Amino acid sequence: MTSHKSIRFISDTWEDYALIDSGDGSKLERFNQYVLDRPEPVAVWPKGLNLSKWDKADASFEPTGKMKGYWQNIANVPEKWMLEYRSPNHESLKLKFQLEMKRFKHVGVFPEQATNWEYIVRKINEGDRLLNLFAYTGGASLAAKSAGADVTHVDAIRQVIDWTRVNMELSGLDGIRWVVEDALKFLKREVKRGNKYNAVVLDPPTWGLGPKNEKWKLDHYLEEIVELVAAVVEPEGFIVMNTYSGIPPTSLETLWRRVLPKANMVSGELCLQGSDGHLLSTGSLIRIEL
Ligand SMILES: C[S@@+](CC[C@H](N)C(=O)[O-])C[C@H]1O[C@@H](n2cnc3c(N)ncnc32)[C@H](O)[C@@H]1O
Repeated sequence: MTSHKSIRFISDTWEDYALIDSGDGSKLERFNQYVLDRPEPVAVWPKGLNLSKWDKADASFEPTGKMKGYWQNIANVPEKWMLEYRSPNHESLKLKFQLEMKRFKHVGVFPEQATNWEYIVRKINEGDRLLNLFAYTGGASLAAKSAGADVTHVDAIRQVIDWTRVNMELSGLDGIRWVVEDALKFLKREVKRGNKYNAVVLDPPTWGLGPKNEKWKLDHYLEEIVELVAAVVEPEGFIVMNTYSGIPPTSLETLWRRVLPKANMVSGELCLQGSDGHLLSTGSLIRIEL
């Protein structure tokens, strides 16, 4: 029988990042020296801290629609600043991210992903091939590169890739292969060419955009993506799939079980832990070992 276990994935404490508090649909976080107040729909409980603490945030994001909004009171925050992740477990895993408040409510890093960076570094061997799809500013790519992997980083948006290149250089790394393309198109080509990877990491958004601004809805392509990923991964390889799109971990497991019936899977919620210990679920995660 195959093993399956549902858990909460929580990153170790970071020096440069902290979830200070959450509640009333918002989260209060420190990114290095700056404290930001951002919307967080799953924080359905009351705030734990006194409101005066929240009022001291250096900037806050004001939503004006589902995918729209603006930052306010940003006078104290520079246009760009730096955040470092220093692994408590692997000396070579030291990543640097340039942060900025340009794109919607995101600042250039998903701190809860640190647990995946640790997992990747634990699992990957020097020279292994890792494919990072929907790769954003590259946390998983940088982690794999720091462990000596051969990394292919795919994102549909050129500016996001340029941003990741900055992060790579800041982190003292080089040699990541950049692909500005729709992940689905790239996967289809890789399957045709017979190219294989020891590891595939993917974080498909609910709504994606291709390089020509074409709209892309996850529901329509999820099954195909899963089949294509299973086709490019080596028989002894591993897959990390994360999603912020509301698909529960159990659904992820059932979906993958159809194409990889014998693989070992661990799925659960990817969480942030607040300074007072409370947990905030940010999305679903599945790790698959073939
Ligand atoms: C939720 S972010 C991924 C975050 C990532 N897991 C991390 O830890 O940094 C989704 C990314 O997918 C990219 N994207 C959207 N549609 C895409 C598509 N069709 N093909 C490739 N990348 C796409 C976006 O540009 C964005 O960078």
